[in-house]
Amino acid sequence: MPAMLLKALAAAVALLLGPLHAQAGACNRTCLEGQMSDYLTALAAHDPSPLPLAPFVLYTENDQVIPIGNGEWQVVSSLGNYRHVFSDPQSGQVAAITTITENGMGAIYIARLKIDSGGIREIETQITRDPNGATLYEKMEKPEDVWLEAVPVEKRISRDFLISQTNKYYSGMQNNNPNGNYSFFDKNCSRLEQAVQTTNLNRSTPYSHSNDTVFSSLGCEAQIQTGFLGFVTSIRDRMFPVVDEERQVVFAITTLDHNGTVRFLRDANGTTSPIPAYFDIPRTLQAMEGFRLNGDKLFRIEMNLIELPYGSISPFRPGPALDRSGAGNNQNTTIPCNGGCLDGVVVQVLHALEAHDYSSLPLAAGVRYSENGQFLALGDGLWETIGPIAMPGVDGYAARFSDPSSGTAAYWGLTMEHTTPGVLALRVKVDNGKINEIEAIDVRAESSGPRYGTTTLMRPPLPVEWPADRSLGKLDSSFQGNQTSFTDVRPRLSLLYFNGMELHSSLTIPFASGCLRRDNGFQGNLSCAAQIEGNGPAPNGLYNLTSTVHDVRILVTDSKRGVLMAVAMVDSTATSPGPMSATKRIPSTYMVPQLIKVTDGVITRVEGMVKWMPFGYNSAWSGEATFSR
Ligand SMILES: *[C@@H]1O[C@H](CO)[C@@H](O)[C@H](O)[C@H]1NC(C)=O
Ligand SMILES: *[C@@H]1O[C@H](CO)[C@@H](O)[C@H](O)[C@H]1NC(C)=O
Ligand SMILES: *[C@@H]1O[C@H](CO)[C@@H](O)[C@H](O)[C@H]1NC(C)=O
Ligand SMILES: *[C@@H]1O[C@H](CO)[C@@H](O)[C@H](O)[C@H]1NC(C)=O
Ligand SMILES: *[C@@H]1O[C@H](CO)[C@@H](O)[C@H](O)[C@H]1NC(C)=O
Ligand SMILES: *[C@@H]1O[C@H](CO)[C@@H](O)[C@H](O)[C@H]1NC(C)=O
Ligand SMILES: *[C@@H]1O[C@H](CO)[C@@H](O)[C@H](O)[C@H]1NC(C)=O
Ligand SMILES: *[C@@H]1O[C@H](CO)[C@@H](O)[C@H](O)[C@H]1NC(C)=O
Ligand SMILES: *[C@@H]1O[C@H](CO)[C@@H](O)[C@H](O)[C@H]1NC(C)=O
Ligand SMILES: *[C@@H]1O[C@H](CO)[C@@H](O)[C@H](O)[C@H]1NC(C)=O
Ligand SMILES: *[C@@H]1O[C@H](CO)[C@@H](O)[C@H](O)[C@H]1NC(C)=O
Repeated sequence: MPAMLLKALAAAVALLLGPLHAQAGACNRTCLEGQMSDYLTALAAHDPSPLPLAPFVLYTENDQVIPIGNGEWQVVSSLGNYRHVFSDPQSGQVAAITTITENGMGAIYIARLKIDSGGIREIETQITRDPNGATLYEKMEKPEDVWLEAVPVEKRISRDFLISQTNKYYSGMQNNNPNGNYSFFDKNCSRLEQAVQTTNLNRSTPYSHSNDTVFSSLGCEAQIQTGFLGFVTSIRDRMFPVVDEERQVVFAITTLDHNGTVRFLRDANGTTSPIPAYFDIPRTLQAMEGFRLNGDKLFRIEMNLIELPYGSISPFRPGPALDRSGAGNNQNTTIPCNGGCLDGVVVQVLHALEAHDYSSLPLAAGVRYSENGQFLALGDGLWETIGPIAMPGVDGYAARFSDPSSGTAAYWGLTMEHTTPGVLALRVKVDNGKINEIEAIDVRAESSGPRYGTTTLMRPPLPVEWPADRSLGKLDSSFQGNQTSFTDVRPRLSLLYFNGMELHSSLTIPFASGCLRRDNGFQGNLSCAAQIEGNGPAPNGLYNLTSTVHDVRILVTDSKRGVLMAVAMVDSTATSPGPMSATKRIPSTYMVPQLIKVTDGVITRVEGMVKWMPFGYNSAWSGEATFSR
């Protein structure tokens, strides 16, 4: 190629790349703050179209991927005044802790944007539904000045050092060792949690779910020296996306697992107290928080939490590699049947769960285990927390099912984790004599006891609650029958059933006239059809709230017992007209395992459970559904 042409080409390329390149480096603090301001303005206007979105922008709300414009974009009624913006021109990222009202109710709203010359590529948001916290933030009006001051250059530490000092906070809290070295805290360090000061308090205020009134009176370092935070068994996927070197501030996002194995909390004075019932079961929390350093010490912490289904992994983070070391054991043991003994297989799995030991099970090398839609390592979750399980044929609330044609065994019954009851829907898939899938769906009782009880953190009230003190009684005997003559349980039934739920219409659902239906043990006096149509006062009106039904999956069809077990995710967009009760105000997804009894081709009985999930939730199995619509 002639030199002149090359030169011209280079000039053209420079012309093309030049402005883009300049732009990439040019989003300084002013520019990033402007982007955040534009983003929030667009949110309040319910219209993302003015934003410079990259073509494949990844947008999440509380870790769920949903199309931008849906979810929170439909329900934000106003922006609050408190706005704490974190800017990092080097990484092109900006985050804000701010407040909104959604359908008129206060919430803490956090957004992180990642921007480059192509536009906004990532939008990660967390909505902490804590009206009290939102009110406190509004009273503060703005962040404490120390967050916003430029630190003299000679007093700054490097970007990497800022991150590594911040990371020590997480390493210290994980399995909180009272004898650790916590000198990374400034002596005057203080912390806000959802805008509540939780350090150095003079008044005796119980901390979090505990009754401990000493903890909040201590400073950051003294608190962690008590070992009191030992219920946090893992802090994973630690991200430090926004580092503001000028202000010596780090904005971090982390996932905190509480695997339910820690049974005692150490009090500040060295005595122990029982663990609050909230930690009876495995829980995952996500924290988005800012850290202001003073020299190399943590000086201010501003933390905001949400709860996610245990084991949740953000689409923005790689997540932990699953430990499959338990898989492929018992190489030479197989299940010597392909049908009749599936009933036995499910009991074998229940016994293994009770024993917290899967080593006796004939597991395929690639065996997958999930709980409430999240893949977990075998041995995690219920494998550590479960106590007695109601046994089919022995206890009143338990039944088992099987489908030899697909090699599926299943169970529906009561579990107990420490003091917390649950209803477990279990699916076990056997292939070539080995178990290759175990899927657990466990809806636990949630009660609003002392110190927030066992309720999923900051979820709205359900139309139909299952408090721990309400017994479910017996599972209807029609589910517990022995195998009898063949009944055609058409998979199509679940399509009709869930379609009806989506449309609030029973027109096409083949309900028997005397059909009875319960949600979380509540029956009321409405027929199956009337419940689906949402007629009548709450809690029967559950399905009137709902819009899309997705991730519909059949767990088992047992044609000899005439039973179909299925699960679906039912969205409530919180946009319905009419009065907005607390139940309706927040975009939500209900996970609804259903046990459906079929007699002579019609539905005679339904036992359903309801668990609240973040809006847009899909199980990890979705997409490889055993049944798709
Ligand atoms: C940020 O960039 C804009 C435009 O490039 C410039 O006008 C402004 O002065 C810069 N602000 C700061 C604080 O550097
Ligand atoms: C604690 O860590 C700091 C910083 O690394 C170090 O200077 C100090 O010696 C440590 N203290 C103890 C008792 O190990
Ligand atoms: C803590 O703050 C107080 C009041 O602002 C100040 O007098 C004191 O020197 C500070 N202590 C340390 C160790 O920085
Ligand atoms: C706590 O009480 C002490 C002594 O009563 C007082 O000096 C201090 O200002 C109080 N601190 C706060 C944060 O109220
Ligand atoms: C230790 O502190 C707890 C409250 O945090 C209190 O209930 C208990 O009585 C204290 N025990 C002793 C021995 O002081
Ligand atoms: C806290 O106190 C309440 C009321 O006295 C009690 O019911 C609860 O069990 C206590 N929680 C813990 C974890 O000790
Ligand atoms: C499984 O069987 C094969 C062939 O019979 C044998 O070589 C192998 O040692 C056995 N493995 C185990 C773990 O028992
Ligand atoms: C649960 O947490 C405890 C305490 O940190 C730990 O020993 C155990 O290995 C954890 N379980 C799993 C499955 O990681
Ligand atoms: C099921 O069969 C077993 C043994 O054949 C019998 O003991 C039991 O009563 C039967 N149960 C029902 C509900 O028919
Ligand atoms: C059904 O229950 C509601 C509320 O509990 C009650 O008002 C109504 O009268 C009942 N209807 C019938 C037919 O029993
Ligand atoms: C539920 O929706 C149906 C039709 O959409 C309506 O007829 C009924 O009145 C609604 N019920 C309630 C409790 O809002």
